[in-house]
Amino acid sequence: MSAKRREPGLPQAMLARFEEMGLDLDVFVPALLRLPSQTFRINTLKADRESVLDALSYLDPEPVEWNDLVFRVKGRQKLGNLVEHFLGLIYVQDSSSTIPVTVLEPEPGERILDMASAPGSKTTQIAAGMQNSGLLIANEVSVKRIAALTGNLDRSGVLNSVVTKQPGQAYGHIATGYFDRILLDAPCSSEGTLSRSMRTLEIWSENSIIRLANIQHALILSAYYALKPGGVLVYSTCTFAPEENEGTVTHLLERFPESIVEPLELKGIDSQPGFSEWRGEDFDPRVKNMARIFPHLHDGEGFCVAKIRKPLT
Ligand SMILES: C[S@@+](CC[C@H](N)C(=O)[O-])C[C@H]1O[C@@H](n2cnc3c(N)ncnc32)[C@H](O)[C@@H]1O
Repeated sequence: MSAKRREPGLPQAMLARFEEMGLDLDVFVPALLRLPSQTFRINTLKADRESVLDALSYLDPEPVEWNDLVFRVKGRQKLGNLVEHFLGLIYVQDSSSTIPVTVLEPEPGERILDMASAPGSKTTQIAAGMQNSGLLIANEVSVKRIAALTGNLDRSGVLNSVVTKQPGQAYGHIATGYFDRILLDAPCSSEGTLSRSMRTLEIWSENSIIRLANIQHALILSAYYALKPGGVLVYSTCTFAPEENEGTVTHLLERFPESIVEPLELKGIDSQPGFSEWRGEDFDPRVKNMARIFPHLHDGEGFCVAKIRKPLT
């Protein structure tokens, strides 16, 4: 399929960009628009793994390789109607969406910031990793979205969190050097979630990619300031746009050349390295350590993840 042959519903400019990324549109576009297998994560704050697996054995859940609490199910199920969901024993979450917190590796007793947290899929996963100890700040700028966030924290039995409503840009000033780990799951153009909702297309444009990249630049610098020396920042998006992925991480590396982009070990995930350039602009070579998740290679939504460490000195 050439970008000139219009895929129903996808803008020409988007198809042209995918082609420029080296993607074979005949393979990539159908995968992008196909719903991935459904997955759920066992919430160890409320349940133990074996009893949930026992109760849900009729769904024949298959474990994913990178996280022993995440399971795929076959066919289409109404997982959101299960009593285990209402009780908070499981969290229904796309498989790719479970990767950033797996990479973050939250530990009990730490201070962790989830800078852009609603509706809380990853906040609840972080709280489980912290075993409800330490301090978890769930920040979200949109008051509307905070309702869903607090509902999910409550249902999941999260007890170590404080919800704040700040622009993430403020944290670099108000909590400089404070956090052991930070997740910045950034507001983005959401190209990777098109199978779930075509509403993304209502706001998608090349201008909105640039606008979002500028917001991400400010957020990633703020997150880095708020990190302790030795701390870990995970930056993630659910989009393919290089401006919002390698471009944003390169922005951080230009300002803080000492920061370290750690290679990722994603067991069982066929990920691709970060791009080295886009439209004539070279990125910092260290962004090759980022992981790009494409839906024609991995059974999940599109994602991009970077793990950045602030050196001790
Ligand atoms: C990709 S979503 C986060 C999804 C969430 N991490 C999860 O897994 O459930 C990005 C969020 O960032 C919020 N946001 C947008 N601009 C922000 C800002 N300047 N500071 C903090 N949050 C912001 C959006 O309202 C949105 O809820």
